[in-house]
Amino acid sequence: MREQLINRAIKVLEDNYQPGGFTIPSEGLYPFQWKWDSGFIALGFAHFDLEKAKSEIKTLLDAQWENGFIPHIVFHTDSDSYFPGPDFHQSDLHPQASEKYRSTGMTQPPVTGFVLERLLEIANEDGDMMEFVKSQIDKVYTNHIYLYENRDVEGNGLVYIYHNWESGTDNSPIWDDIWETMDPPEYQFERRDTSHVDPAQRPSKREYDHYLYIIDIAKQHNYDDAKIAEHSPFLVLDPLFNSMLIRSNEALINLYTKIGGNEEKLSYLKSKQEQSIASLNEKLYNSTLGAYVHFDLRNNKQIPYVSSSSFTPFFAGAPDKEKAEAMVNTLQQKFGGEGRYLCASFDPTHDRFNPRKYWRGPVWINLNWILFHGLNRYGYHDLADRVKTDSLKLIENYGFHEYFDSRKTNPDTDNSGYGGDNFSWSAALLIDLMNDKS
Ligand code: SER
Repeated sequence: MREQLINRAIKVLEDNYQPGGFTIPSEGLYPFQWKWDSGFIALGFAHFDLEKAKSEIKTLLDAQWENGFIPHIVFHTDSDSYFPGPDFHQSDLHPQASEKYRSTGMTQPPVTGFVLERLLEIANEDGDMMEFVKSQIDKVYTNHIYLYENRDVEGNGLVYIYHNWESGTDNSPIWDDIWETMDPPEYQFERRDTSHVDPAQRPSKREYDHYLYIIDIAKQHNYDDAKIAEHSPFLVLDPLFNSMLIRSNEALINLYTKIGGNEEKLSYLKSKQEQSIASLNEKLYNSTLGAYVHFDLRNNKQIPYVSSSSFTPFFAGAPDKEKAEAMVNTLQQKFGGEGRYLCASFDPTHDRFNPRKYWRGPVWINLNWILFHGLNRYGYHDLADRVKTDSLKLIENYGFHEYFDSRKTNPDTDNSGYGGDNFSWSAALLIDLMNDKS
């Protein structure tokens, strides 16, 4: 059984691997290289093909801009199956954009630091992988400097996102409050995603108008970070994005310490790390909800909703004991009731919850992977085991889907796997979770 599932996962990854040395998330729906997908995908490959794992990271970092920025999509090839493509994004408006690759002008959660650390662990610290880490680590470090120097508008160690696609949690109900502050034009365009996936499982046309409008504003300012900070109607401190940065800082500190030397880099990372953790706790924790929440910088207020992103600070080691206990209560009470798989992407007790619609409720395997490691880090091993078991069960019952219904249904009669099929990170993280020794 175990072997069969792993073999199926390997096949998904092999089928999605491209001649250019990177892996698409899902055929048709996502035909390019995505930033945080690549990080998780590399972890899966590392268990059976270290060369492909390295290539995944290398191709991503090869598209890094001169200013340290790493784009969220690298358009290695042309494809008609996705909108908006490179002609809409026009990232070359930025004077330091990659000259080698076309890309978007937005980023995604900074996972690459902790991915490098985990690759070394999976490879049992072998010399080849250490050489690979040495060859890539400065690019990740430069990326962290880019984030701190350009996106920390309050100077407190927390970095902003200017687009919901940068959060990774594209159409979360969290953004609904921000959409209410905007009135974008009605764009004329042809959706491609809904020709691959049931529209009931994807964002609405009106949501896409908002997504495109924010990009248009960034384009008007040639993707200049300072101008975006001044003019973007969407400017948010995301607990997930910042937790990934903090966990990746920690990984870089561990790796540079192993490598030796690099004193200046270590002291920069350590001082940022301390400040980021303190500000995450001060600004993004909501004690009434017992969870971390998003902060809307444009409208200067917390966005008080609980989502799976609310628990990602566990992975970053940010909460103290008291906060950790409150978070576990919130997780169990709101998300962990009888008849539910962990962990829904949005509060299932809230009226904005939708069990089928992308990031408005379904379970995502990458968030479960982050939660599994975070809960183990804090000693909540039983709950971590449940997150792992639920993840494996969902894939076993419904296949390697992009996302899943959190309500326990009958696998013989109900199809609770949604979005893209043969989805790379679901396959990759199943392999990593099944091989986990913690
Ligand atoms: N996930 C986005 C999409 O649906 C882009 O990152 O196209």
